Amino acid sequence: MNAPVDRSSFAPGFDQRASPPTSIVVRDLRFGRGREGGRKVGRWWLNGDPVATAWHNALSATFPRGEAMFIESVKAFREGTPPRLAEEIRAFVKQEVNHTREHLAFNRAAEAAGYDLSRIDAHVEKLIADVYEQKPIAWLGITMALEHFTAMFAHEFLANPEHFYGGEVEQAELWRWHAVEEIEHKAVAYDTWAHATRDWSRFKRWRIKSLLMLLVTGRFIKHRSLDALDLLAQDGITGWPARARLARYLLVSPGILRRVFPHWCAYFLPGFHPWKLDDRALIARYDAQRGHAPRTVRAAAG
Ligand SMILES: [Fe+2]
Ligand SMILES: [Fe+2]
Repeated sequence: MNAPVDRSSFAPGFDQRASPPTSIVVRDLRFGRGREGGRKVGRWWLNGDPVATAWHNALSATFPRGEAMFIESVKAFREGTPPRLAEEIRAFVKQEVNHTREHLAFNRAAEAAGYDLSRIDAHVEKLIADVYEQKPIAWLGITMALEHFTAMFAHEFLANPEHFYGGEVEQAELWRWHAVEEIEHKAVAYDTWAHATRDWSRFKRWRIKSLLMLLVTGRFIKHRSLDALDLLAQDGITGWPARARLARYLLVSPGILRRVFPHWCAYFLPGFHPWKLDDRALIARYDAQRGHAPRTVRAAAG
């Protein structure tokens, strides 16, 4: 279903489709802390499955540094943005800061369960240092591509609850919460990029955006797979059996990479905008299931 388009608050000449009149809500929640400041999580917290656990632990290990880069990339271009987009950037930053805090706690729980995440962290630090060697507009283009990845995964996580069946409750709830907020702010980096490149030709904007997505995709799949294999090796699962089990998990069952492939392709279509996939119903369902209003509300709607 196509989202309604509201261009009213965007600057003249800003020719990207605006986001739908939705709100970016900062749900300042905490997960897995417990009264005593935390509880021990099972080593294979996701359905007793080392492969599913390794994939999600590998993703989580990248979030603190990765989301800090997303924030810096978007903030670098917030000056002069239309009021509605400026509001959305502020809400985006608050959401990502909270995500980082909770994934740091999640990562500490993974370390307490026996995993060494230090190699992954050093690896991510190096990859991000390489990004900062480029111009700020490239940071933003890379962030925009990675935000499309998080939005695709978030949609899958919420639309197909099987991804977290059998998961420890607090751990799974963290991922659901993160997914909801990633959908909510999925267009912020995109709209910031569109504003920052408003003087470019449509073709140049499409070409650079597409090239960066191809680059990001290759690196994302390669590096996150290597990180997951690092964690599986810590469980004694190595070599071809580890690769085969990870490939089956990602491509066959539940097959997250296979399932998001159509959404990934859509990124290259002329006229693409993240809200062309209007999945606000997933957010509404989450909030209804939680049964109460979020603690802090930041309405960014125009
Ligand atoms: Fe996030
Ligand atoms: Fe995000």
